[in-house]
Amino acid sequence: MSESPQHHGQWSSRIAFIIAASGSAIGLGNIWKFPYLLGENGGGAFVLVYIACVIGIGLPIMMAETMIGRRGQRSPVNTMAALAKEANAPAFWQIAGWLGIVAGFLILSYYSVIAGWSMAYLFKMVGGFMDKVGPEEAQQIFLDLKAAPDVQLVWHSLFMALTTAILMKGLTEGIERVTRLMIPALFLMLLALDVYAATTPGFWEGMTFLFKPDFSKITPDSVLIAMGQAFFSLGLGMGSIMIYGAYLPKDVSIGRSSVIISIADSAVALMAGIAIFPVVFSNHLPPSMGPGLIFESLPLAFSHMPLGSVFGSVFFLLVFFAAITSAIALIEPAIAHLTENFAFTRQKASLIACGACWFLGLGTLWSFYDGGEWQWHGKTFFELIDFVTADVMLPLGGILIAAFGGWVIKEKVSKEELDLGEYHRYWQIGTRFIAPVAVALILLKALGLF
Ligand code: PHE
Repeated sequence: MSESPQHHGQWSSRIAFIIAASGSAIGLGNIWKFPYLLGENGGGAFVLVYIACVIGIGLPIMMAETMIGRRGQRSPVNTMAALAKEANAPAFWQIAGWLGIVAGFLILSYYSVIAGWSMAYLFKMVGGFMDKVGPEEAQQIFLDLKAAPDVQLVWHSLFMALTTAILMKGLTEGIERVTRLMIPALFLMLLALDVYAATTPGFWEGMTFLFKPDFSKITPDSVLIAMGQAFFSLGLGMGSIMIYGAYLPKDVSIGRSSVIISIADSAVALMAGIAIFPVVFSNHLPPSMGPGLIFESLPLAFSHMPLGSVFGSVFFLLVFFAAITSAIALIEPAIAHLTENFAFTRQKASLIACGACWFLGLGTLWSFYDGGEWQWHGKTFFELIDFVTADVMLPLGGILIAAFGGWVIKEKVSKEELDLGEYHRYWQIGTRFIAPVAVALILLKALGLF
């Protein structure tokens, strides 16, 4: 284990950390997953449950995870080991670190394939290949892409290569630089799309769908889905925010930064909804069409609207920005682990970790290609990875992190690190009781145990 915790370097400022962590949080989860989950789970009521989950569960865990990272100053496994030792707790807590590293690695393998789709669509939009397509054609374009392993391979490889290049550049020159450029650009583009959506005939219908809660639509299942989504979207339980916390200077308030990051993340999810649903309703498309929502409905809608191809291009560029700033956070824990434990340079560690991830991504790519023919216990390769990470590893990591922050780390230490003043009590209730119990419910449900 490294004896010099500081060898990774630090963020250059508080704002650099907030932007990089927002980049990690804002991703395909906000722009691809949130809208279709919302579409499938009843609109406004889902939004409310989601926001309650962000505040009640996500926020306390984010603070705990960042605090653990900053306290440990190392990669997640070594951090958990060092802090457990400091608190005289059993070494088994290291599992939380391992879960994070492995989950981030596994998620990136499929994340890159889907990010590749957004690049393919960007290319199609800019090239005008999606002008005036009909519903069948739009569907066919998506099916063709999924059935073309060579095309997907090109985009997946390009996406991984770009991710690797950013990571090889390091913290300040790589991650900070890219996120500082892309995250504000993403906000602006989304804002432009929202303004555009406001001019479409389906605007009010979209807004009603998004913001008018129909409580009869809330079911135990939709609550669990909202909770899992809050977790994924904030990027928790995966060591990402832990390693970003490890690079955080001591004088930055974790409490305040976490609030800002959570607000930014939720705002982008809602802004994506505002951009997408009016366009969907204007074209009389169903809001509940699942994972194909942004790849099938939207291009169809854009292709029939004035300036549609311009806004369609902006949309897929935005998806790409969101994806790549999350991708670097997903694999950073593994890279830090390799540099600490095997004395690799950052460049070598990035190449190895991303190379392996690229290779694993071929499995996902192939699972779309064979149309789900190969299955194990009823799940394709992609579904297996998604299930094992999002439904098992992340909740488990989340419970461990919440409990470690709330129970194992001494109160004196958490008070000093978080700087929450009188709100500290609420954080404690969150990490000690609410988050572990609520997240345990997701886990048990996902495993089909109740
Ligand atoms: N939060 C990202 C998203 O919403 C995914 C992610 C998870 C990124 C964990 C980093 C760490 O797409």
